Amino acid sequence: MIEGSASGKKASKLKYGMVGGGQDAFIGDVHRKAVAMDSKAELTAGCFSRDYKNTLLTGEMLGMDKERLYKSFQEMIETEGKREDKIDFIIIVTPNNSHFPISKLALQNGIHVVCDKPLTTDSKDAEELERLAAEKDLLFCVTYTYTGYPVVKHLREMIAKGDLGPLRFVNAEYPQDWLATSLEETGQKQAGWRADPEQTGISNCVGDIGSHIENMVSYLAGLKIQSLCARLDTFVEGRVLDDNACILVDYDKGAKGLYWSSQIAVGHDNGLRVRIYGTKGSLGWSQENPNYAKISYLDKPTEIISRGRDDLYPHAQNYSRIPAGHPEGYFEAFANIYSTFIKALRKKLSGESLSKEELDFPGVDEGVQGVKFIEKCVESSKKNAAWIDF
Ligand SMILES: NC(=O)c1ccc[n+]([C@@H]2O[C@H](COP(=O)([O-])OP(=O)(O)OC[C@H]3O[C@@H](n4cnc5c(N)ncnc54)[C@H](O)[C@@H]3O)[C@@H](O)[C@H]2O)c1
Repeated sequence: MIEGSASGKKASKLKYGMVGGGQDAFIGDVHRKAVAMDSKAELTAGCFSRDYKNTLLTGEMLGMDKERLYKSFQEMIETEGKREDKIDFIIIVTPNNSHFPISKLALQNGIHVVCDKPLTTDSKDAEELERLAAEKDLLFCVTYTYTGYPVVKHLREMIAKGDLGPLRFVNAEYPQDWLATSLEETGQKQAGWRADPEQTGISNCVGDIGSHIENMVSYLAGLKIQSLCARLDTFVEGRVLDDNACILVDYDKGAKGLYWSSQIAVGHDNGLRVRIYGTKGSLGWSQENPNYAKISYLDKPTEIISRGRDDLYPHAQNYSRIPAGHPEGYFEAFANIYSTFIKALRKKLSGESLSKEELDFPGVDEGVQGVKFIEKCVESSKKNAAWIDF
């Protein structure tokens, strides 16, 4: 069980501020609900939009103190940074191009950071954040949501223990269909900025969902990309950036991979699926059915493991919240990332050191890798799908 959900100990809540997540925004509200699930931190400050009226409305809806609603992220970070009861961490849920300046200013003001992916639109900026976080000794989480599922953590441990034997091949995909038409032309907010290179960066499809594949495979399988070749396509007329991508990957230790991400795959919602093949066995996991995984061995019948019913490795089991058959999903995965981050931050603030297990949330280093992955895919595609060293 998640620590604290059953414990009677009273501890003061950490305080956080949010940038982005105003009325009509998507992921900010998911973050707020995920943090609230374990009641370990409370929303104290906000700049939810560039439009102050929206920030005021959102803050009012959330029952916040008006004094801590700000007109700009600069004002919020600089003012909060000087307060005795300042926020402990900031959550950044704005479009991609603003992640870097907001994260940088927060770190400069001694505030720990949670930023959504992709970390930045340029790997040099991402590396600067990594350096700054280390220099200031601040925690930095990049919310690659899907690593929060208990079954994913179990599969990761299985692979690390060698249950599948040396890995040979990875097949991972993330198909969606929400951009199968030019939705960005209709005024739909989320599609609008994702299709705009100024706000989203050099890639849409790889940046938005291909980056989840890269992080998920790296987390699950522990494989490091050595080289890749990618073909990014744009199927919808008038669109500038990619809406479909096919990527071949060579990893260290001889394994190979094939990734497909798509926003024009009619019939698919959020179909992140990973299959990993070793010399002795294989496994398959899908984001839309995240409480289960299929595991096959050469010499045994295929099995389906079920979160809540079957014994997961203890670390993974700790993240399971309710009995089998009551599905846990996206909110719980997000909440698991926050429960680990907040617990780690609490220990850090009280001067205690942290083990690797206690730091099991996606860090700034993974954010850097993600941005490099996007850049390498775009570079390869521009060179007619040439192989590019990572
Ligand atoms: N981890 C995940 O699974 C996941 C899922 C969806 C989105 N995301 C990421 O989250 C981020 C936001 O995506 P979204 O779909 O919620 O976008 P959105 O357009 O729905 O929301 C963005 C919000 O940021 C606000 N904003 C923009 N600039 C601002 C600024 N300078 N100061 C204050 N507020 C500002 C907007 O007003 C809006 O409220 C993106 O980086 C996206 O890639 C991650």
